[in-house]
Amino acid sequence: MRVRWHALPTAAEAAEAACRQVVAWVEEQAAGPLTMVLAGGRTPRLLYRLLARSPLPWERLVLIPSDERCLPAGHPERNDTLLAAELLDRLPRRPVFHPIPAELGPERGAAAFEPLLPSLPPLGVAILGLGEDGHTASLFPGHPALAATTRAAPVRDAPKPPRQRVTLTLAALNEAAHAIFLVTGSGKRAALARWQAGEPLPAARVCPRGTLAIVADRLALPSSPGEGSGGPPGNGAHG
Ligand code: 6PG
Repeated sequence: MRVRWHALPTAAEAAEAACRQVVAWVEEQAAGPLTMVLAGGRTPRLLYRLLARSPLPWERLVLIPSDERCLPAGHPERNDTLLAAELLDRLPRRPVFHPIPAELGPERGAAAFEPLLPSLPPLGVAILGLGEDGHTASLFPGHPALAATTRAAPVRDAPKPPRQRVTLTLAALNEAAHAIFLVTGSGKRAALARWQAGEPLPAARVCPRGTLAIVADRLALPSSPGEGSGGPPGNGAHG
C-alpha cells in the first residue's frame, strides 16, 4: 500500500483534486465492472457534484454506501438520500446503486446486505470520510464492528447520531484497490494529526491494496510530510 497525503488550499480545491484522483483510478483499472464505495456525511457533497459532471464510465460502476443510518427509507438524514441528491439524481442515467437496508435495523440490515457483497464486481475505489474522533464509515473507536470478519456489520450506540447504523467493515474496505479520504475543515485537524502521529484510529486501519490518498484542505491539514508526492493528476479538474 502506498500512502499519499495532499493538502490543498481550500475545500473546493481538495474536492477537485479528489475528483481527479477517483477518475484517474477508475480509468487506469482494467475494463470491466467495478464497485465504488461512497462515503456518507456532508464533506463529500461537492465531490459528488463534481463526479456527476466528470467523465467517469458510470455504466461500469456499481455504487454502494460506506454505511447507512437506521432511519426510514427516504429520511433526509440517510446517507443514500444525500447520495441521490448530490450524485445519483444528477446523472443522465442512474447507475447501479445498492442501498443498505438499514431501515430494517442494525442486525437485520447488516444480515440482509452481507450476501450481496461477495457477488459485486471488484472494489475499485472507496471514497471515505473522517470523523473528528477518527472514525470512518460507521467504524467508531472501540466499537465491536471494528473487529468484524463479515463485510457488513451492525452498529449500536454510535457516538455520532443516529446511534444505530449498518457499516461496511475493514474486511470489506481493505479489499479496495484504492481508497481516498476527503477531509476538510479545522474540526478534523486533531484527527488527522493523531493519524499522522501513528494512532490506530479506525480510519488509519483502512489499508487498500494499492494507494491510500488523504486529500485535505489547509484547515484540516496545515502541512504534511511528502505532500503532493505522486499526487492526483495535474490541471484540468474533471467536471
Ligand atoms: C456518517 C458517515 C461518517 C462521515 C464522517 C464525516 O454516516 O456520518 O458515514 O463516517 O463520513 O462522520 O462526516 P462529515 O463529512 O459530515 O464531517
